[in-house]
Amino acid sequence: MNLRDVTVIEHVEVQGGYRLLVMDAPDIAAQVQPGQFIHLQIPDLRDALLRRPFSIYNAENNRLSVLYKGVGVGTRWMADLKPGDPLSVMGPLGHGFPIAEAGGYPVLVAGGYGMAALYIAARESRQKGTAFFGGASAGDILCVPEFEALGWEVRVTTEDGSLGMKGIVTDAMDEWLAQNRPEGEPEYFVCGPSGMLKAVGERAMKAGTKAWISLDNNMCCGVGACLTCVQKIRTADGAWEWQRACREGPVFECREVIWDGEESVEHRTSNIEHRTKS
Ligand SMILES: Cc1cc2nc3c(=O)[nH]c(=O)nc-3n(C[C@H](O)[C@H](O)[C@H](O)COP(=O)(O)OP(=O)(O)OC[C@H]3O[C@@H](n4cnc5c(N)ncnc54)[C@H](O)[C@@H]3O)c2cc1C
Ligand code: FES
Repeated sequence: MNLRDVTVIEHVEVQGGYRLLVMDAPDIAAQVQPGQFIHLQIPDLRDALLRRPFSIYNAENNRLSVLYKGVGVGTRWMADLKPGDPLSVMGPLGHGFPIAEAGGYPVLVAGGYGMAALYIAARESRQKGTAFFGGASAGDILCVPEFEALGWEVRVTTEDGSLGMKGIVTDAMDEWLAQNRPEGEPEYFVCGPSGMLKAVGERAMKAGTKAWISLDNNMCCGVGACLTCVQKIRTADGAWEWQRACREGPVFECREVIWDGEESVEHRTSNIEHRTKS
């Protein structure tokens, strides 16, 4: 992990309120693993003291990029960034998608900015499989040509039917699973809203396959110190403990995650302070 002062080299509006921010950050770009994120400081704002987390969309040579949507005070401030502006960036952070070790047929599932978290995974995957992108309408569906250029089949779903199949992303997945027999069991790599993560995880568990889901828990410090981002995680001995989405995650296998409202198994005293994933 690095804390670096970097420089904006490109900042463009993509579509639907999403922007692509490219930074000159060779030290960080060289270390990025699929599904990791950066923590970006919003300077000069008294009411936005905390850094903001963003999935790393791409990292090539000296270029590090994020794809983000303006939703609040920090991202609205970011919208005014221009080439040459300085930024303080911490990263790469967290444990991402173990796609290099995928044993089955890789299936990517993304909602909202989830596509951004999956692009490097799509590139690093030895086998190119099928990607399901879902959103409210056409403006929310990003990067389809980029994923297709890597050799992935992309299937799009929109809730209003303005692009692709009308419905939600799991509708398209269910239809595809009913009609196709991929070579190998599907292994899912998923980023998007919690409801979607849970729905894909349930399908994977029912089918006895794996789903790696990237949690979107609110984060303050981003480096494991504040415990804002903790999540109930099942342990191998059948108990559970709090783990930090920013440090042990954000990616977990779906069987590990205990969602709010789910019946808890026996609680074990957390070893959060000492635990570090390899
Ligand atoms: C690991 C991780 C990776 C992320 N990657 C991306 C990414 O690649 N692209 C992207 O656009 N966003 C991403 N986000 C979400 C991003 O961090 C928030 O949108 C951002 O922090 C909002 O800052 P703000 O100051 O503009 O909004 P605030 O003023 O802090 O909040 C404005 C509104 O946005 C909502 N909001 C804040 N954080 C989140 C969140 N994590 N998810 C959903 N809604 C939120 C708030 O509830 C509030 O309604 C990621 C979040 C996490 C935890
Ligand atoms: S955000 Fe502080 S511990 Fe995760």
